[in-house]
Amino acid sequence: MTKKLPTIAVIGATGAAGSGLATRWAAAGYRVLVGSRSAEQASIFAAAIGAEAMDYVSAAAKCDIAVLTVPYEVQRAVLTNLKDSLQGKILVDVTVPLAAPKVTRVQLPAEGSAALIAQSVLGEGVRVVSAFQNVSAAHLKNMDELIDCDVLVTGDDPAARSEVVTLAEALGLSAIEAGPLDNAVAAEALTSLLIWINRRYKSSGAGVRITRVPGR
Ligand SMILES: NC(=O)c1ccc[n+]([C@@H]2O[C@H](COP(=O)([O-])OP(=O)(O)OC[C@H]3O[C@@H](n4cnc5c(N)ncnc54)[C@H](OP(=O)(O)O)[C@@H]3O)[C@@H](O)[C@H]2O)c1
Repeated sequence: MTKKLPTIAVIGATGAAGSGLATRWAAAGYRVLVGSRSAEQASIFAAAIGAEAMDYVSAAAKCDIAVLTVPYEVQRAVLTNLKDSLQGKILVDVTVPLAAPKVTRVQLPAEGSAALIAQSVLGEGVRVVSAFQNVSAAHLKNMDELIDCDVLVTGDDPAARSEVVTLAEALGLSAIEAGPLDNAVAAEALTSLLIWINRRYKSSGAGVRITRVPGR
């Protein structure tokens, strides 16, 4: 018997990262809830990709798995608002704690990482998994592109980590489990290096690849 696909809410779905992820999951056959502050933008975008538009709280309440793609500056406030709706679910945190204007420099929050902030805001009733920090939105948007990089997936709950690996693979990405949520700091920090590399080598969306893992 085939397992029913989870319903995915993308919170901040009209942004660069969120729209790419939402478009690819919808194309892969998932029921996608476009969570947006703007009802108008959400309906136009959702109609274009075959998804459903709603506000953040409704999307979080109706999903099985929520994916957070909002700027770091508002991450805490948005999650505080969604805390009740997300209990018992998986929250995939895509946030990178970039501090403009020095986005090519690693600057981490006092709490350790954006992922640890997410877990502390949501509490133990939500399984937080960190992923997609090192995948450029430019690549996600190009539906014809097979994206050549690994997605590092960290989280404290092995089953939740594994589910997020499946979600990444459904997008045509290669995903690899990289340990507990404490390790998310490494993936978040890598993003500043990748932005620096893009500027230095005039690349668009450099990524990471983990080598010499058996079976991959
Ligand atoms: N862009 C990338 O290549 C990339 C790659 C990896 C990780 N990330 C991370 O993903 C997150 C989103 O990045 P992004 O590049 O997609 O950002 P973005 O294009 O600016 O979009 C962010 C979305 O967040 C929502 N939002 C909620 N409150 C907001 C506020 N006060 N101001 C602005 N937007 C607000 C908006 O969606 P609604 O209007 O629909 O609510 C907005 O479209 C960030 O944490 C970033 O570090 C980005």
